[in-house]
Amino acid sequence: MGKTNVEQEEGGTTLLSLPKHVAIIMDGNGRWGEKRGLSRSEGHFAGVQAMEKIIDACFDMNIKILTLYAFSSENWNRPKDEVNYLMYLPIKFFKQKLPIFMEKNIKILATGNIEGLPKATKRAVVKAVEETKGNNGLIVNFALNYGGRMEILQACQKVIKEIQDKKIEVDQVDESLFQRFLYTTGLPDPDIIIRTGGEQRISNFLLWQSARSELHFIECYFPDFDKKSLAKVIYDYDLKHTHYA
Ligand code: FPP
Repeated sequence: MGKTNVEQEEGGTTLLSLPKHVAIIMDGNGRWGEKRGLSRSEGHFAGVQAMEKIIDACFDMNIKILTLYAFSSENWNRPKDEVNYLMYLPIKFFKQKLPIFMEKNIKILATGNIEGLPKATKRAVVKAVEETKGNNGLIVNFALNYGGRMEILQACQKVIKEIQDKKIEVDQVDESLFQRFLYTTGLPDPDIIIRTGGEQRISNFLLWQSARSELHFIECYFPDFDKKSLAKVIYDYDLKHTHYA
């Protein structure tokens, strides 16, 4: 949580408690499409447009980190056409957006089993991460081929290996050491996790990192989630965390 001096008032200062890290489960694209007589993929296309606006909104609102659940490890079970389309979207998206991200000093990160992505998708993601690695503005972290349980299991395996290799002692394994072995190493935990689409579940997202996050479940489908909806969540967060005089 960051305290930003937003307004100088007579007799005092109003402080705004901005969440530092906002994470979003972008749910409801398929239903958004179906409700309009469109395909699920058209729903995902609308989801990308909403996602672009949310990235802009976070940039404008001075949020430091935005994590977006773009593809879960369970999403491979969807129809082949839909999976193919979801794997094509990052290719198109980064090709279009990289110059703008460079201009805006936005840093791209990828969280998940990136090795398991199709070659062209992986190439696009790795290129975006590489090209933006020197940027130090807004961090946009894409959870791709991500599963929270798998992340924790892999972290356990890596920790055990370190112990076997005598690089660390069992007694040294605490929370701060353990989180170094997660995909999100180095990032603070999300202050807020938003799920659109009306369902109240965490769906294997950031299981370790969400231990203390505030959860916001929003009824609207992700393509309808806009800057105003995000601002409302941030405003509610601020009311709870800022003690106005
Ligand atoms: C869940 O909605 C959403 C997804 C599985 C994919 C979300 C991905 C994007 C918005 C675009 C990602 C793009 C890039 C560039 C990384 P759903 O299909 O489960 O919706 P439903 O609950 O209505 O079926």
